[in-house]
Formats: sequence, structure tokens, C-alpha cells
Amino acid sequence: MTVVVALTGASGMPYAVRVLEILSGVEPLDLRVIVTENGEKILLHETGKTLDDLEGMGAVVHDNGDLAADIASGSFSFHAMVIVPASMNTTAKIAVGMEDNLVTRTAAVALKERRRLVLVPRETPVSTIHLEAMARLSAEGVVILPASPGFYHRPGDIGGLVDHIAARILDHLGLGERGIDLPDIVERWKGMGSSR
Ligand SMILES: Cc1cc2nc3c(=O)[nH]c(=O)nc-3n(C[C@H](O)[C@H](O)[C@H](O)COP(=O)(O)O)c2cc1C
Repeated sequence: MTVVVALTGASGMPYAVRVLEILSGVEPLDLRVIVTENGEKILLHETGKTLDDLEGMGAVVHDNGDLAADIASGSFSFHAMVIVPASMNTTAKIAVGMEDNLVTRTAAVALKERRRLVLVPRETPVSTIHLEAMARLSAEGVVILPASPGFYHRPGDIGGLVDHIAARILDHLGLGERGIDLPDIVERWKGMGSSR
């Protein structure tokens, strides 16, 4: 079963690395990674990691210019795609139907084949144009999962904040319904225990 993880030129690369760390430990998964040009620069800047490091995690790293890659075709069946972090540039391109690189083409395939697509936008503040692009994708069934971690699990450090978003992304990949159980990296909310 194939899962595609795309890293685009927004801040928030630790989220992507954490998701890849978890998914790379899942034996039956065929993990594909696409990184845009600016994504590669920000990945290095924020995490010190290179594309070689991502390959070392067991992922197949595609060239973003390779529109002949298997995942660029609707006839190749991947289970889900997550774009994390999602730049506003890539978000807007997908929302208007542009398919000019492997990230946008694979996202377009996910849309037309009605497959699971999770978008983790990172920008603040956002313009009406950004909001309209996200609303349009949401109407197409895309899960818009903003990179805005909660604090109710009382994270002790940055890793706790990263895990909060990574856990929500992993939930929305829908691997459980295909018999793949992922570890709970953040304790699930059980209420405040204050019922009267
Ligand atoms: C250090 C750095 C951080 C950036 N952070 C963001 C961001 O958080 N969100 C965003 O939408 N764009 C951000 N950008 C701008 C995008 O990288 C830029 O719009 C680029 O065209 C995105 O290209 P891509 O979608 O092909 O990756 C950032 C750029 C740099 C250099």
C-alpha cells in the first residue's frame, strides 16, 4: 500500500519528518516522498536534513520535475497523500487545477480519483485568497489540517507540539481501515474528569 508525503516550501518541516519517522517503521507501507525546490531548502534550514536523509528513512524520494513517475498516473493506485507542510503557493495551484510538478500533479490525481488527500497549510495571517483556496479544496473533500498544535495535552517541549500535529495527520491517512494500526504518539483526550 502506497502513501505519498509531499514537503513544500513552508515552515513546519519537523511535522513532516515526524510523520515520515512513524510511517517508515510500518512494514507493509510503500512510502513515497516528493519535495519542492523551496521545500528542500527549508527542510535543511529547519531540521538539518537532506533528501538523502529521507531516503535513509526508507522512503522513495521522487524528483518533483518527474511527471512520468508512477504516482503521477491515475492508473497507479496510492492510498493517501499528505502535503506537509503545504505552502500557500502549492495550495493555490492545486485549488485552481494546476499540475505543473509532481506534487501538484499527484494531488490532482488524488482529487480526480477521489482518494484521501490531507493538506497541512502553514501561513499566518492568511489572506482571503488563501482562505478561498483552502475552502475550494475542502469542498472537494480534502482534509484541511492546519499546522496549529493544541496545548491541551500539555506538551513539555517542541517535540510535544510537533507530535500533536503528526498524530492528527496519521489519523487522517486512514491506514486503520486498511488494517494498519499506527502507534498513538500522543495520548488521546479522555475528558477533564470533572463531571458532576
Ligand atoms: C524560510 C522560508 C519560509 C517560508 N515559509 C512559508 C510558509 O510558512 N508558508 C508559505 O506559504 N510560504 C512560505 N515561504 C514561501 C514559499 O517557500 C514560496 O511561496 C515558494 O514559492 C513555495 O514554493 P512551493 O509551493 O513550490 O514549495 C517560505 C519561504 C522561505 C524561504
